[in-house]
Amino acid sequence: MVTGAAGFIGSNISMRLINEGYSVVGIDNFITGDKKNIVELLKEEEFTFSEGDINDIEMLREKMEDVSYVLHQAAIPSVPRSIADPLASNRANIDGTLSVLAAARDCEVEKLVFASSSAVYGKSEDLPIKETSIPNPLSPYALNKLTGEIYCRLFYELYGLKTTSLRYFNVFGPRQNPSSDYAAVIPKFISSIANDEAPVIYGDGTQIRDFVYVEDVVTANIRAMKSGAVGEYNIASGRRTSIVELAEQINEILGKEIQPRFDSPREGDIKYSLADISKAKETFGYCPRFSLEEGLKRTAEWFSR
Ligand SMILES: NC(=O)c1ccc[n+]([C@@H]2O[C@H](COP(=O)([O-])OP(=O)(O)OC[C@H]3O[C@@H](n4cnc5c(N)ncnc54)[C@H](O)[C@@H]3O)[C@@H](O)[C@H]2O)c1
Repeated sequence: MVTGAAGFIGSNISMRLINEGYSVVGIDNFITGDKKNIVELLKEEEFTFSEGDINDIEMLREKMEDVSYVLHQAAIPSVPRSIADPLASNRANIDGTLSVLAAARDCEVEKLVFASSSAVYGKSEDLPIKETSIPNPLSPYALNKLTGEIYCRLFYELYGLKTTSLRYFNVFGPRQNPSSDYAAVIPKFISSIANDEAPVIYGDGTQIRDFVYVEDVVTANIRAMKSGAVGEYNIASGRRTSIVELAEQINEILGKEIQPRFDSPREGDIKYSLADISKAKETFGYCPRFSLEEGLKRTAEWFSR
């Protein structure tokens, strides 16, 4: 089962699983996902989809009956949105995760992989960040994800449900939404630069991010799913890129020279984010394959279709 299957990462995971010969049950309520993301999947015989909320535990129990693995991606995935509406984020991200865990326990699922976030670290001066760094959530979203991780651990300890939490850093790639108010930086920059509009940088652009291409995140999910690993793992590229550099690279790839516009920093944003990925490498052989340039080229190509 893939929760959040109509979202950016969930749809990419579902497609890979289908291509690898698995049967996939997709769940989504389209709160941030898009029907367009599952158009190709719906043509596949081995993909079944249910529109529904992960807080509906009866529906989950029914759909999980013959499920071996749950890849739990569904969430309201935005720091600013969680600051604007903390109750909605709590319901989707904490209550929803608890329902998914309880249904997985009841249906004796073999393994549950939870999409957590680097947001759990908050402001960490200690770069690159290791999983042993003490979490310091600075937004409701970060707290939601940390709570989800702790529930995952508890469900393993109390009920024996094997769980892995993957702390994604900045994921990018095809099907990421460029147009919501809460859109991520790469699809927003590609979309504005392609349309000859100045990309907006919050702050001075020297902030560092660790961008990871979605296909590497998909691989991490499948490796974690098949492994006995329990606990928290950074999933990133381990490369540092500033936002100014990112704008330059996208200009280069699109053959443009659009200068960015600078605006005030956003609430809850952190200055530096860079992962140490050795734990995932050593435990389940995670090894990112895509360079930033290759990932950006593929993403830009997809957006231009
Ligand atoms: N994209 C990133 O860089 C990033 C970084 C860290 C963590 N994550 C996490 O990865 C996961 C996937 O993120 P994404 O970028 O694909 O976002 P997305 O918004 O594209 O996907 C999330 C999906 O979950 C669905 N959803 C939300 N609440 C639901 C509910 N109550 N019931 C059923 N479906 C629901 C949405 O409709 C959407 O399709 C999220 O858990 C997110 O927090 C993403």
